[in-house]
Amino acid sequence: MIAPHRHLLQIEGMHPPQIETMLDLAESYVLLNRSGKTQRDLLRGRTLINLFFEDSTRTRTSFELAGKRLGADVINMSVSTSSVNKGETLLDTAATLNAMMCDLLVVRHDQSGAPNLLAQKVDAAVINAGDGTHEHPTQALLDALTIRRRKGKLEGLVVAICGDILHSRVARSNIHLLSAMGSTVRVVAPPTLIPADAARLGVEVFHDMAKGLAGADVVMALRLQRERMNGGMVPSAREYFRFYGLDFEKLSHARPDAMVMHPGPMNRGVEIDSAVADDPVRSVIKEQVEMGVAVRMAVLDILSRGQNRNV
Ligand code: CP
Repeated sequence: MIAPHRHLLQIEGMHPPQIETMLDLAESYVLLNRSGKTQRDLLRGRTLINLFFEDSTRTRTSFELAGKRLGADVINMSVSTSSVNKGETLLDTAATLNAMMCDLLVVRHDQSGAPNLLAQKVDAAVINAGDGTHEHPTQALLDALTIRRRKGKLEGLVVAICGDILHSRVARSNIHLLSAMGSTVRVVAPPTLIPADAARLGVEVFHDMAKGLAGADVVMALRLQRERMNGGMVPSAREYFRFYGLDFEKLSHARPDAMVMHPGPMNRGVEIDSAVADDPVRSVIKEQVEMGVAVRMAVLDILSRGQNRNV
């Protein structure tokens, strides 16, 4: 058993044994979930608050399910109808939730670093559910679990992450996790969508899908995050799809058994073709969603071990 974590704010800096332990525990939750059993005593008496300042379907719902399956009291705070709209600051909101003795605070925010700031101000364990363009640690963990279950390992695999790398916290967390676990990570995108620190991240950079996908074991497509763009970074959706949209022709350059991933939400016909996204053999997109619940159960389990509160 590894030492309890206080928060989960980022993958960067996590060591392979810590990642392995989380994935192994998540694997046990996959089996538990599939058996239809629950473990409602584990977090009985604990309170989990979902605090999402940005939209979400998968992450918020799966944290809610994960908390409930482990017996926690789960509150989804609706930021759009909260006193944030009356000008209350992030820190005052956090102090208010802290006074309610929340144990686990799941935070999504459009500003990179917001969960780290909150973690310094509240007693609860803080979990980063995606902050700006920084990190989305539970997404990388669920992606790693999905890959490990299909391929039996992470070490030695070639993973091609394609699309809007610049704005993607998913890409950043995956790069840190997969590199730490011994995968070779490639990023494939137009030059305007490659981050300036790509070399520091230790990835191989490609601007051509055929070259970037050549021999890849895993192909991960990412959404164009137009809400984070100031315009002019990509041509029309139609042009983008022609050069970077994942269709079967481009996928044919990867290994014949290459698996296709997408964190969602998908823009069909922009970064991925529906035929590829829905292919029952190559696409594991639905499996990623299932793994999301198990990974979040594992994260809540591990973080709650680091709390002293008597329940
Ligand atoms: N992958 C992901 O974070 O999806 P949501 O935005 O729906 O949570």
